[in-house]
Amino acid sequence: MLKATGITKSFHTNMVLHGVDFDVLPGEVHALIGENGAGKSTLVNILSGNLSRDTGTVLFDGQEVDFAHPLDAMRAGVSVVHQELSLVPNASVAENIYLRREKTNAFGLNDWPAMFKAATEIFQRMGVDIDPRALAGSLSVGMQQLVEVAKAIALNAKLIFMDEPTSSLSEKEIQELYGVVNDLKAQGLSIVFISHKLTELFAISDRITVLRDGKLVGTRPTKQASPEEIISMMVGRHLNDLYPPRAKSIGEVIFKCRDLSLFGAVKDVSFDLRRGEILGIAGLIGSGRTEAMRALINADRRLSGTFELNGQAVTLDDPADAMEKGVIYVSEDRKSQGVFLDYDMVRNIGASTLDRQSRAGMENRKSMRQSALKFIREMDIRPARPGTRVVDLSGGNQQKVLLAKALNARPKVLIVDEPTRGVDVGAKSLIHKQLRRLADEGIGVIVVSSELPEVLGMSDRLLVFRNGTVASQLDNNDGSLTPESVMASAVD
Ligand SMILES: Nc1ncnc2c1ncn2[C@@H]1O[C@H](COP(=O)(O)OP(=O)(O)OP(=O)(O)O)[C@@H](O)[C@H]1O
Ligand SMILES: [Mg+2]
Repeated sequence: MLKATGITKSFHTNMVLHGVDFDVLPGEVHALIGENGAGKSTLVNILSGNLSRDTGTVLFDGQEVDFAHPLDAMRAGVSVVHQELSLVPNASVAENIYLRREKTNAFGLNDWPAMFKAATEIFQRMGVDIDPRALAGSLSVGMQQLVEVAKAIALNAKLIFMDEPTSSLSEKEIQELYGVVNDLKAQGLSIVFISHKLTELFAISDRITVLRDGKLVGTRPTKQASPEEIISMMVGRHLNDLYPPRAKSIGEVIFKCRDLSLFGAVKDVSFDLRRGEILGIAGLIGSGRTEAMRALINADRRLSGTFELNGQAVTLDDPADAMEKGVIYVSEDRKSQGVFLDYDMVRNIGASTLDRQSRAGMENRKSMRQSALKFIREMDIRPARPGTRVVDLSGGNQQKVLLAKALNARPKVLIVDEPTRGVDVGAKSLIHKQLRRLADEGIGVIVVSSELPEVLGMSDRLLVFRNGTVASQLDNNDGSLTPESVMASAVD
């Protein structure tokens, strides 16, 4: 279906693809894996007309092609579900699916009834319940991702690139997506699937290609490969994917939340956070877990809620006020609520301290640069140049910048929502270690995650959300925290 040979690409003087060969068979699910910054998205962008290549040839369906624009690729039958969401928030779901390819009626006008009907059929085929008339921006990140998949299906694509399509989906939605992928494959479509989740790649792919530092390491039939082999191909060494040890000791309550409510989404949530522990928060998409954390810092106007920080009552009036008082929330949605894409790492990491420093009379770029460098080292952010704009970093490295920015603000309570979304296995264990270290240092750490292994591996105590409230509290120390107990509490 596709054969790419000798693909190279440089950004300025930085060569990020070095003569990569990559091919996809008809009716194949081909997994693409590699560390953050290995060049996966860049390769996909080149093959789908989103970026130009420096050298190399591409054959698609027997023809030599050089797509100058994503629309050219789409017309030829190549479509992409991007790593970062790209829907137009103020347009309806159906408008997004048919953007620039609107169906028209006999009068040449946009035929909305036909588009709504077609969109509904696609969602039925996917087995998901999304209203084509809803505004795209009103949907959860997970739902928006499914709309992107629907969009590719609507294009009658022959080849679909999915760049980390499951990183924001719930377990149930992931299973649905697997079903969709298998159906498409049975119809002869080819799918290139990028993911950092090895179990996922082994479950779904026919072949696996590994990239490292912009070079092809190799392609293996999935049946003949083992996870250990793939990991060592990825990182060039063996790696044990173990979670850091649990809390050494659990101390006094450092943060108290009582009767937190948000209209329509969160009901009477109360919990304590103790010194030394990591408090996990789990729940399906729509269970209110993220909404509750946002309500805590009053990002959306809450109905009720009282808080105590180190024994003192505090009000958390808005996110800036919460941050000032030491309660920092790191959003799951880094693009719209986390980083300033057009600014470099120095300004992003330093953003939270800008205020302090400019009040002192000057924006101290030099000291900001020093702290950026410190975090770049600690979190192994690549490339390690503080002047790099965040938009030019790979997805996983953007995630590390977001965390660095929060840590630089010296939190008392740090709430991280999906802290390792889109992060490779090595960087993931590094982030886990950092979070554990913070907890050991006496910072209150709350980890919201939709990944069951992460929730189980990190939490000393876990709150499972369901229908906007805490359905159960599970404790790792008394043995009540098990995969079964989490799942049982999460579903009705
Ligand atoms: N527009 C750009 N300008 C400059 N450098 C870029 C640009 N886009 C990507 N890069 C660099 O190219 C390299 C490969 O990035 P790419 O996004 O392809 O990685 P990836 O394998 O998709 O990683 P991730 O798993 O984190 O998504 C990185 O070093 C990145 O910083
Ligand atoms: Mg990527």
